[in-house]
Amino acid sequence: MKHLLSLEKLSREDMKIILQNSAVLKNQRGDSQHQPLAGQSWALIFTKSSTRTRVSFEVGVYELGGRPMFLSSNDIQLGRGEPIKDTARVLGRMVHGAIIRTFAQSDVNEFAEFSGIPTINALTDDEHPCQVLTDIFTFQEKRGPIAGKVVTFVGDGACNMPISWIFAAAKLGFELRIAAPENFQPAPEILKRAGGKIIVTEDLKAAAEGADLLYTDVWISMGKETESAQRIKELSGYQINGDLVKIAKPDVLVMHCLPAYRGKEIDEATFETHAQTIFDEAENRLHVQKSILNWIVS
Ligand code: CP
Ligand code: NVA
Repeated sequence: MKHLLSLEKLSREDMKIILQNSAVLKNQRGDSQHQPLAGQSWALIFTKSSTRTRVSFEVGVYELGGRPMFLSSNDIQLGRGEPIKDTARVLGRMVHGAIIRTFAQSDVNEFAEFSGIPTINALTDDEHPCQVLTDIFTFQEKRGPIAGKVVTFVGDGACNMPISWIFAAAKLGFELRIAAPENFQPAPEILKRAGGKIIVTEDLKAAAEGADLLYTDVWISMGKETESAQRIKELSGYQINGDLVKIAKPDVLVMHCLPAYRGKEIDEATFETHAQTIFDEAENRLHVQKSILNWIVS
């Protein structure tokens, strides 16, 4: 039984298989008779908002021959306190796979353990593996192998996005630099677990120097809204803008997982200059997640 619970737990080999097959699925979209999910129903259990992840998984499951079933936690008994492990044991008897977006990583792990069906992490507080696989696919599509390249993450360096980047870096052999204020830096214990070449610094300019990819994410992740004022104060300045882009490589790519908040983690002009890349990245969620689904049932 395969799961995609985190990039920490995904092997280098499986990562490479998923990335390679994403290109095949992208090229064959609309032409392929390949339906590995034929006759299957897949539950999307979401406790947090989503545009890209929800739509790309609903379309992806359908295009692979399956039936997606969106279950907002507000609408099922989970939202009224039914335990994860009971929900998992019920759904595991009815559906063929689950795609879960929630707060605690332990909830996704527990669902996988008790459901007995393939389970995909569609974002937790700890990781966003589908997004980072897509980001790497998008980078490689435009610039070739990511091994040996420099990826600079700017902003909240302790949230799910940088953590998934951290676990990808050693496996794929690129240098990761995280520019974040002290209170928003990843725990040293995570860096130790991941290994690889990872630099964490408050020095934004040094982190951006010669970068092949500048990457950012929202300053206020879902669930952190009560900290908004403090986060805006402390993260102010940790922004991708024209001045920062000038310090990076001349052909630097700028990416954002979206949604983007102009004037905070990125400025409007830089966002629009790099919109082609950013929306290719958003589209690629569909192709990469179809590849994840294909891998998980094979
Ligand atoms: N990037 C991302 O996961 O977007 P959604 O929150 O819209 O799914
Ligand atoms: N760090 C963000 C990612 C959104 C896709 C969040 O968790 O809200």
